[in-house]
Amino acid sequence: GITRHYKFDVRLKNVTRLCKTKTIVTVNGKFPGPRVVAREGDRLVVKVVNHVSNNVSFHWHGIKQLQSGWADGPAYITQCPIQTGQSYVYNFTITGQRGTLWWHAHISWMRATLYGPLIIYPQHNSSYPFAKPHKEVPIIFGEWWNANTEAVINQALVTGAGPNVSDSYTINGLPGPLYNCSAKDTFKLKVKPGKTYMLRIINAALNDDLFFRIANHTMTVVEADASYVKPFETDTILISSGQTTNVLLKTHHNPQQTTFLMAARPYFAGQGTFDNSTIAGILMYHDDHHNLPSNNISIKNLPIPTLPAINSTSFVANFTNKFRALASEKFPANVPRSVDKHFFFTVGLGSNPCPKNQTCQGPNNSSKFAASVNNVSMILPTTALLQSYFFKKSNGVYTSDFPSVPLVPFNYTGTPPNNTNVSNGTKVVVLPFNTSVELVMQDTSILGAESHPLHLHGYNFYVVGQGFGNFDPRKDPANYNLVDPVERNTVGVPSGGWVAIRFLADNPGAWFMHCHFDVHLSWGLRMAWIVLDGELPNQKLLPPPADLPMC
Ligand code: C2O
Repeated sequence: GITRHYKFDVRLKNVTRLCKTKTIVTVNGKFPGPRVVAREGDRLVVKVVNHVSNNVSFHWHGIKQLQSGWADGPAYITQCPIQTGQSYVYNFTITGQRGTLWWHAHISWMRATLYGPLIIYPQHNSSYPFAKPHKEVPIIFGEWWNANTEAVINQALVTGAGPNVSDSYTINGLPGPLYNCSAKDTFKLKVKPGKTYMLRIINAALNDDLFFRIANHTMTVVEADASYVKPFETDTILISSGQTTNVLLKTHHNPQQTTFLMAARPYFAGQGTFDNSTIAGILMYHDDHHNLPSNNISIKNLPIPTLPAINSTSFVANFTNKFRALASEKFPANVPRSVDKHFFFTVGLGSNPCPKNQTCQGPNNSSKFAASVNNVSMILPTTALLQSYFFKKSNGVYTSDFPSVPLVPFNYTGTPPNNTNVSNGTKVVVLPFNTSVELVMQDTSILGAESHPLHLHGYNFYVVGQGFGNFDPRKDPANYNLVDPVERNTVGVPSGGWVAIRFLADNPGAWFMHCHFDVHLSWGLRMAWIVLDGELPNQKLLPPPADLPMC
């Protein structure tokens, strides 16, 4: 591989959306941010210089960071933030991965405007396990607030209430024709008849899983989270926050019209408020040689593709069950067969009592929203976990007693247990190198059933099972798929159900795991694994770079 250099200048920029101009934090003045492109085996060197007053840090979502945990990016987990006027060079090699990933800021809600595609092409002597598409197009969904997003979350954390929902969704930064004065800010995908396009779809929305469909067209799913899957055809996809999905779109040979709408809107099974608006873009046929029907339908009158009901958990279960690893000779599924350590995590929302002398607007008006894993709501430390671990200064920073089962036994189908009250802590699980892990995550649904997109840093995992209701340790494992389970970095814990994953802890470091909804992340739905070094030189975390930011 080669070394590719990028420079990320973090600076302010005025951007107008929905008729309002606001100042946002950008990378290089671009919104969404620049595309980062590499090939499998390449080294990426990204120099970040912070010219704004906010602290920043950047995460390369889905990159395994073998031995290079210092470049992973979540603030207070692998590094302290890059402060005003400071810089930090993210330096890592892309080993054994190719496909669509993305990068985003990983501190507070800064990723609302700091995000972009990270595209990894196969090695020169390698190709896709499907015919090379005519063209490849990144489609990145985002979420836009008219207000300053840092103010939105900070206000919510102070009052204990839910934050204000976004004002629109965006495709490649554009809200599209269904929003106020945004017809000119519409994403247009120009295609030729009879060709195959690969859409590299990324869900960068802060707090929403999205359904996506293109009117009168079907898509063939070929990749999920930069892992090839057995191709399957669908008219609608569900993409959870943080996930990426590559689809092939075959255009019609003789289209009956030249423009079609594409649309996305959220899947939301819980209670409470969310942005239930629809983002639309345009698929536009053009051709220099054929005569296409003239575009005599105005965009306003184009039918919006029919999407599943907002709370259609049955569609989601059915759709997610279709994902199977390609599991070919060239791209085998290395599913751990035996398990060294079993973990059972409850994930969900809860509440914290309101502090004295404060009025809270959270659940019951007398509490603050909280979210937890096994009833532990994680407080971020004031110095990075990885630094404290590596320099053997963990005392007072974290404890190694993260519970492997819930603190309060959980029964989804019985009377909901009175375990909405969470305890705060900075607890980690310490794993010896090469531990084979099975983790079952159960949605607690205490404040309403809701799907949680759980993201693990530093690894891909295999999704070996999922179901509704209580996970049953005596019955459910018999139905695990250990042959071709999909390999991902982010999985939806089903609303009112559970998901089982397996991974081999062969990458030393401190690895964050959290709900990819920023609101739940802020409320504490997060924990960390510390994976110890192995014996061999290539099984050890390398020392930190000299410019690693300090707290
Ligand atoms: Cu894409 Cu820790 O996040």
